[in-house]
Amino acid sequence: MATIRTQPSAAPVIQALRSIGYNAQTAISDIVDNSIDANSDYIQIEFDYDIDSGFIRIEDNGIGMTDSELQQAMTIGSKDPRKKRAKEELGRFGMGLKTASFSMGKRLCVITKKNGIISERCWDLDYVSDKNEWLLYETIPSEIKDKIGQVGENSGTIVFVDRLDRFCGYGTKKVLKQDSYYSKVKRIHKYLEMVFHVMLEKGLIITINGNTLYPWNPFLEGNQRRIEGEEQIIRVNQKLVNITPYVLPHPTTFNQVEYRYAGGIKGWRDQQGFYIYRENRMVSYGDWFGMFPKDVPSELVRIKIEFSNEADDDWKIDVKKSSISVPDEAKEDLQAIAKYYRQLSQEMMLYRTKATRTGEKIKGTLNTWELSTDDINSSYILNRTHPVLTEILKAVDIDLRRKINVYLKLVELGSPCNLLKTANMVKKEEQQIDEKSMKLIVDYAEILFSTGIELDVEKVAETISMMAGFEGIEIHTIRTIIDKEVNSNASNNT
Ligand SMILES: Nc1ncnc2c1ncn2[C@@H]1O[C@H](COP(=O)(O)OP(=O)(O)OP(=O)(O)O)[C@@H](O)[C@H]1O
Ligand SMILES: [Mg+2]
Repeated sequence: MATIRTQPSAAPVIQALRSIGYNAQTAISDIVDNSIDANSDYIQIEFDYDIDSGFIRIEDNGIGMTDSELQQAMTIGSKDPRKKRAKEELGRFGMGLKTASFSMGKRLCVITKKNGIISERCWDLDYVSDKNEWLLYETIPSEIKDKIGQVGENSGTIVFVDRLDRFCGYGTKKVLKQDSYYSKVKRIHKYLEMVFHVMLEKGLIITINGNTLYPWNPFLEGNQRRIEGEEQIIRVNQKLVNITPYVLPHPTTFNQVEYRYAGGIKGWRDQQGFYIYRENRMVSYGDWFGMFPKDVPSELVRIKIEFSNEADDDWKIDVKKSSISVPDEAKEDLQAIAKYYRQLSQEMMLYRTKATRTGEKIKGTLNTWELSTDDINSSYILNRTHPVLTEILKAVDIDLRRKINVYLKLVELGSPCNLLKTANMVKKEEQQIDEKSMKLIVDYAEILFSTGIELDVEKVAETISMMAGFEGIEIHTIRTIIDKEVNSNASNNT
């Protein structure tokens, strides 16, 4: 079939590319990604305020680019997103450098050094729009030469963006005031401390206007009181995903400054949820992805999820590296894990439950059921130290507490698992009753007699014998126990 070569026109495409939804924080992060991919360990970011000629400058000491690599790098769509990327590489689409820069300003200059050779290029969007063609300047304009400065001794790259119309209203009537400009810079500072915290912890140095970034770890690494859940590894479309849940300590264990700091950029309630990392770089934070509401009792839960760049398709990573969607295959597992830890957070918030020992991994002590095993038998028993139960039992008088305990014992004996086990049991020749069952019969008989309903021993024995958990005990044995053990109340009724 015949085809007609149809070139996109430059001017409208530029406008569209400028509006793919970056904000200043995600844009700067995307440029920093490139420096990290280029093996930099020192990245200096500078935000310069000037009503007419402010700029953003990002300098790294990475491997730099040759002239042809730079030419390729400045091309829109410089790499095929479908190609396999190197292990740990953060880039994917061949777009970030351009789209992130254009989302902030109208001019992008890059100067880079590799093997001792310096190369430079410049996109001027006013010129591209004017000519309606993708015309890239081979050199950077002389008026910014002294602002952009020199690449370090060995190798490295400087990305320079100015004419900051989108970043601070350059050329419009609404130019940001200086204090708002620097408040914005402060927010970027905090955002980078969060999304790059793993790299910062590993020794990467990033400065903004000379101030060194300090890693902000959402899971409060080093806090002895936090609970670290068991790491779980699941497979999504054959690729491994690591999940590590954390429940942070109760708010009262912090002083005011620590508490505010641990709350992160959005505050405690909004920072709960999943934290998703792609190659150690946070791409999504504090989000339950519609599985649960963000409520105060669950605000102690933060769950780390890590995937590799091989799984980009499954998680639908976007150009901005700031949004993903949870693969259907992973949803059920994530929901189940989150549900458990949310409940734990709720219990800690409402009842101030503590982990058995500070810093120790949780071992299911908050399950309502626990498996009890000895050499021969195993059965499910209720967790009698569950904080909700403890709270209820504390609130009632002794008599009611006893009744609740008897009732719970019956629930336990009647649990479907225990019933199955009993049904399979071979009846013993001689009926032997353990002390616990004996006590239970007595307790229950006493409760039945105390209801005031007219009951004789026969009736009570029959009722108990039909109850779950007592199937294995013959009625006359029950009757004998009641006859012997239950108080005079019983004998009066006989
Ligand atoms: N600071 C830098 N140092 C060395 N090379 C760089 C630097 N910035 C960009 N590059 C090169 O330019 C290429 C294009 O960068 P760009 O950010 O546009 O796309 P990408 O990183 O490949 O993918 P993505 O769109 O997902 O970010 C990179 O793949 C890299 O080869
Ligand atoms: Mg990139």
